[in-house]
Amino acid sequence: MPLARAKIVVAVGGGIAAYKAAELVRLLDKAGAHVEVAMTSRAQKFIGPMTFQALTRRPVFTDLFSLADEGQIGHIQLADRADLVIVAPATANVIARLAAGMADDAVSAIVLATRAPVLLAPSMNVNMWNHPVTQQNIRRLADVAGYRVVGPGDGFLACRWTGPGRLAEPADIVEAAAHLLSPQDLAGKKLVVSAGPTYEAIDPVRFVGNRSSGKMGIALAAAAQRRGADVTLVLGPSAVPPPVGVQTRNVETAAQLQWALGDAVKGADAVIMTAAVADYRPAKEAKEKLKRGELGSKMSVALVANPDVLAELGTKRKGKSPLLVGFAAETEDVIANARKKLSAKKCDLIVANDVGEPNAGFSVDTNHVQLVDQNEVVDVPPASKSEVAHRILDKVVAMLTADSTSRKPRRK
Ligand code: CTP
Repeated sequence: MPLARAKIVVAVGGGIAAYKAAELVRLLDKAGAHVEVAMTSRAQKFIGPMTFQALTRRPVFTDLFSLADEGQIGHIQLADRADLVIVAPATANVIARLAAGMADDAVSAIVLATRAPVLLAPSMNVNMWNHPVTQQNIRRLADVAGYRVVGPGDGFLACRWTGPGRLAEPADIVEAAAHLLSPQDLAGKKLVVSAGPTYEAIDPVRFVGNRSSGKMGIALAAAAQRRGADVTLVLGPSAVPPPVGVQTRNVETAAQLQWALGDAVKGADAVIMTAAVADYRPAKEAKEKLKRGELGSKMSVALVANPDVLAELGTKRKGKSPLLVGFAAETEDVIANARKKLSAKKCDLIVANDVGEPNAGFSVDTNHVQLVDQNEVVDVPPASKSEVAHRILDKVVAMLTADSTSRKPRRK
């Protein structure tokens, strides 16, 4: 399940890192999750429920024994409707109480009552963390209850000690949450994703490029990683940071992209080409910056064709070749053009989109695509690029599964 559809309870323990839980809640809310917050009474000494109420636009569950709280929220309903419970910060005290199966405050009662996965983000003094009892409690929660743990990070702590004990970065907690919520249907699979534009130099300052932001490919790499794949991202110049933990190879030109891919595709199960590879590059790259004064009122740049990287991967297949997925950015006859690319480039699937459509294609955070293979055309309704990435991966998983159960080669 993507974060955007998940119901997440953030259970806040009483430690100095409680203020960072506000940033965690903000990031989860931004990712589209439905977030509800529960707090221990000690947590309320560090940060007020009002902050979380404002961030989530929902009442905050603070008191198990308050008629008002139970009437409005109800800890069992909260525990029942959660798809995931994140305990952040999970203090030594909270961890000990959870390991003992206690349920006498808002946080412990929800954690004990839920059947959803639980993610602990510990934060405490380094000696508390290293204490054998805390370590035993953590192991017990992991082994007996299957709780997952993210962090703690290593560094300078509020208590002036240095060592493990820092709450994991909120972005890393979000990533761990997304991973836990995702089906691990790409575990053991190697995926290669290319993304972004390529820049082909005219001189040291100018280039021929295109409007691709890299967002769709980066969303695919992140989603595949969350579903358990080992992902290599070959990324052209993009202002968007690559997903944390994804092995990224930065390239600039089509030639570099082709070279990086040639290496990365070895042993891959699937290759997804979202990169908007420049079809042409300047025939000559000037060593020095071209000067307007010397060029006069007109100039032309001779271009030569770049290799069609996807078509070369498709036509030179031999042995056990990876599933090949191409993209087709079109402004007219979308499906007909996608079908032509499917057969000309000998790939298994084309993700077609009408880049003329508002809220689809380059730069924006949403997309509307159609999945075109030899048998069918499937419309993926407009959604965030992350959501669209998951629908594309659903299809990739289905094709990889069909492949492994069928004896027939994927294509002649
Ligand atoms: N592609 C590629 N190498 C190129 C051009 C495109 O590998 N030199 C890949 C893209 O990554 C994409 C698919 O081919 O997966 C289709 O790209 P697109 O730009 O839509 O099509 P083109 O082949 O460039 O054809 P046209 O520009 O005529 O639509």
